[in-house]
Amino acid sequence: MKNSLYLNETTSTNSFLRESLRQKTLPEGFVVFTDFQTAGKGQTENSWESEKGKNLLFSILLYPHQISIEEQFILSQIVSIALIKVLSEYCEQVKIKWPNDIYVNDKKLAGILIENSLQGAQIKSTIIGIGLNVNQTDFKSDAPNPVSLRLLNNKSYNRKVILEKIIDNILHIYSEMDKDIIRENYFTNLYRNDGFYAFRRGNKVFNARIKNVLPNGKLILSLENESTKAFYFKEVEFII
Ligand code: BTN
Repeated sequence: MKNSLYLNETTSTNSFLRESLRQKTLPEGFVVFTDFQTAGKGQTENSWESEKGKNLLFSILLYPHQISIEEQFILSQIVSIALIKVLSEYCEQVKIKWPNDIYVNDKKLAGILIENSLQGAQIKSTIIGIGLNVNQTDFKSDAPNPVSLRLLNNKSYNRKVILEKIIDNILHIYSEMDKDIIRENYFTNLYRNDGFYAFRRGNKVFNARIKNVLPNGKLILSLENESTKAFYFKEVEFII
């Protein structure tokens, strides 16, 4: 793969890429991938567990100057739909759990951590980190309901082949930047977009239906009394 760097081990591919960028200029689409992270990061300060040499752990660099901060969620959507496209070749029922977890049935197959560096009202650079469980079969941390391609299909996979497909898809959808199609494709592939399900906000549980996801990433839920409510990430969670 051109424009890429393989590391045997690193703290976190996101952190490594951010640090490299402080020291030199790197081209758009540059990828760092590794076999092991000593400080893999998940969303909201969680860590990301991945057994050495078993999974895909990588980060891609973008310079999305054309995207305003208000609509930065489009980047999450691009990455999510690229993962759906590729992973659907390997298994059925791959869905995006809002905002950007990749689920198969009720289990998490991949996670995405996007870190932006801002300059005024513009996104100067974006580091998109992806952790995809490929060949791991035992998960030790308390991460909720992990799954891997191996666990789903009882088969091992060549990680590099999957990596290249994912990168190609992300860069392709990113360069086309057809926002309407991206948003529509994202919504079509959303987990539980087909009716009423239980959600939790704080200690309150309620039934609602996903109505929409706004360009800023807010989730719009229709409640049973037909009112609608908007939620930011972490303001509401699915009850699985
Ligand atoms: C999540 O919590 O769902 C996001 C997980 C993101 C993990 C990936 S692994 C490669 C990249 N480097 C990191 O430290 N995190 C991301």
